[in-house]
Amino acid sequence: MFITFEGIDGVGKSTQLDLLETWLKDLGHDVVRTLEPGGTELGKEIRHLLLHRKGDVSPRAEALLYAADRAHHVATKIKPSLTQGKTVLSDRYFDSSVAYQGAARDLEVDEVKNISLWAVDHLMPDLTILLDLPADQAILRRNKKGTEPDRLEREEVAFFERARDEYLRRAEEPRFLVIDAKLAVHEIQALIRTRVSQLSAAGSS
Ligand code: TYD
Repeated sequence: MFITFEGIDGVGKSTQLDLLETWLKDLGHDVVRTLEPGGTELGKEIRHLLLHRKGDVSPRAEALLYAADRAHHVATKIKPSLTQGKTVLSDRYFDSSVAYQGAARDLEVDEVKNISLWAVDHLMPDLTILLDLPADQAILRRNKKGTEPDRLEREEVAFFERARDEYLRRAEEPRFLVIDAKLAVHEIQALIRTRVSQLSAAGSS
């Protein structure tokens, strides 16, 4: 199974990923937990360029750096793990680029999507879990963490609202499970587990 988690910053993806990872491991799955950007050694350097380097990154360069991170991630980590029968859980995948670089940054959504799909050689997730929250609430939650905001996190509310809207548009595809991130942590996790169980059963039948 290849499962991706999506949503704007602050919706609680990592908490849900932690819980799902533990549950799947307890059930005996061989789980690879990863993230974008930065799921590989090369990716960590790209992540630094994208999020922590001083100075601007032009929108198209930004889109290509995320795509480069993803191309290497898929080729050297995700695809080999799936081939070995492992379950891959990724904190973000190409929907992030479509939402952030395409819609929020105002590049052409379909162009960003096509670049990303080319980068990953059209590898699609079996399931994409979208945690949904209005941007102002997500930003409040994120600020509570007290960590120094990175380059993307310094964007205005409207940027994240555009990303959220695009995520919701994309979520019409059947591979998506959309969950209201205002629900309690255990309620969200229960919805995720139900859907993952169905996917797992469908895969083994
Ligand atoms: P993330 O690791 O989720 O942030 P954090 O370290 O705060 O948990 O993601 C890093 C940032 O990169 C986040 O603001 C979303 C952004 N991003 C894009 O703009 N496009 C992409 O394709 C990806 C994968 C992330």
